[in-house]
Amino acid sequence: MEKTKLDHEIRQKLVEAGLNARKRAYAPYSKYYVGAALLAASGKIYEGANIENASYGATVCAERVAVFNAVSAGERKFIAMSVVGDKGGAPCGMCRQVLAEFGLDILLLEVNKDGKVVREVTVADILPDPFTPANLGIDPSNY
Ligand code: THU
Repeated sequence: MEKTKLDHEIRQKLVEAGLNARKRAYAPYSKYYVGAALLAASGKIYEGANIENASYGATVCAERVAVFNAVSAGERKFIAMSVVGDKGGAPCGMCRQVLAEFGLDILLLEVNKDGKVVREVTVADILPDPFTPANLGIDPSNY
């Protein structure tokens, strides 16, 4: 699949928004701080940070917080996401699934704590044989 090419300025903005979001991570248990920033087709960027919980299973990853933040603001189409972790940020399986719902061609910039993009992949690249709305015979584009 042809990868989306991001304008240099937008790319920088997305990396910075991810770094910024990471500062707000609430991760007193793992101390693994993650920030995510999601670029919607509208041009707006939505941020998310991981939010842990004393009941560990109630923790939500930064990527899902960013997606839910954007979708609850009315967005449905996404271009790219930066994921910032200490040494980069590969989304977990559940986050890959949540991202796949909104597009297999979303570009992921995996960024380290110094703002360096360490890997660039699409959701399709890291989620083979995805389960999508099509598996349920649904086309959510007009939904
Ligand atoms: N985490 C994320 O925020 N994103 C991921 O893709 C991987 C894991 C968070 C969840 C938890 O707060 C901490 O990192 C350790 O798993």
